[in-house]
Amino acid sequence: MSSSKPQASVQAPVRTPRAVERLVAGQATSDGAGVKLTRVLTQDLQRRLDPFLMLDAFGSDKADDYIAGFPSHPHRGFETVTYMLEGRMRHRDSAGNEGLLGNGGVQWMTAGRGVIHSELPEQEEGRMEGFQLWLNLPGHDKMRAPWYRDIPSGEIPEFQTEAGVTVRVIAGHSHGVAGAVQREHTEPLYLDLHLPAGARFEQALPEGHNAFVYVYRGALEFPSGCRVPAQRMAILANTPGSDGLVLQAAADTVDTATRAILIAGRPLREPIAQHGPFVMNTHEELVQAVRDYQAGVLA
Ligand code: FE2
Repeated sequence: MSSSKPQASVQAPVRTPRAVERLVAGQATSDGAGVKLTRVLTQDLQRRLDPFLMLDAFGSDKADDYIAGFPSHPHRGFETVTYMLEGRMRHRDSAGNEGLLGNGGVQWMTAGRGVIHSELPEQEEGRMEGFQLWLNLPGHDKMRAPWYRDIPSGEIPEFQTEAGVTVRVIAGHSHGVAGAVQREHTEPLYLDLHLPAGARFEQALPEGHNAFVYVYRGALEFPSGCRVPAQRMAILANTPGSDGLVLQAAADTVDTATRAILIAGRPLREPIAQHGPFVMNTHEELVQAVRDYQAGVLA
């Protein structure tokens, strides 16, 4: 894996870090043709974590948990970001795109007015682990042309802090390093952090952006003393006057490096109308999406 090694710049220290608002365990569920996963960001959190609509975490060594994959299905009105930590998934869509998502790679797909695609495992054994995030589009972009990019692991900018924290910048900016994807309007930040025991990490973040951290190995601690164990999401408070966040890998995680994803974005503050894989602003737009899909003109 030959990741690009951009140079990080010195960042002003975070003076007023955000507090942790609450911890969320997520819900065990299955989706697609029976893929077992944990829905970490559920529909009831869409307003609180605007512009994010969903976060699924999947991870299993058992082929039965993932082998059925996600056969052909539609999307309209938002973006899907799939981050594969381990495993291989083949993607095909109605625009004729095809790609293989492998270890450490990201697929960023903007459904816009409509995409019909399949996401199917290209392995019959071994581990499959990763995340799928749904990021909303502003109303004026919901019917834009679809777009998609496969980002192999080596094209995701990565740097190491003095404290030894490895930061993979999937979207947004961290310590002066631009991520693989930038977006207007929602300004998403998507970092994958690998922290040795006790290592501290700071990230500047505008007070009004909604933010959360999901720990998938080890444990994190926040300056308030709040500990976030693995398989938990911490929703970060929009603490008045805050200029960022400070977190630290728990000191007792020597045997397991702590790994977490940090996700933040600028809220759209628009009405959210969702019907399964369609996310629009109004009920009428949802009805139109279903009609278009049934009439074969969605994508
Ligand atoms: Fe999908």
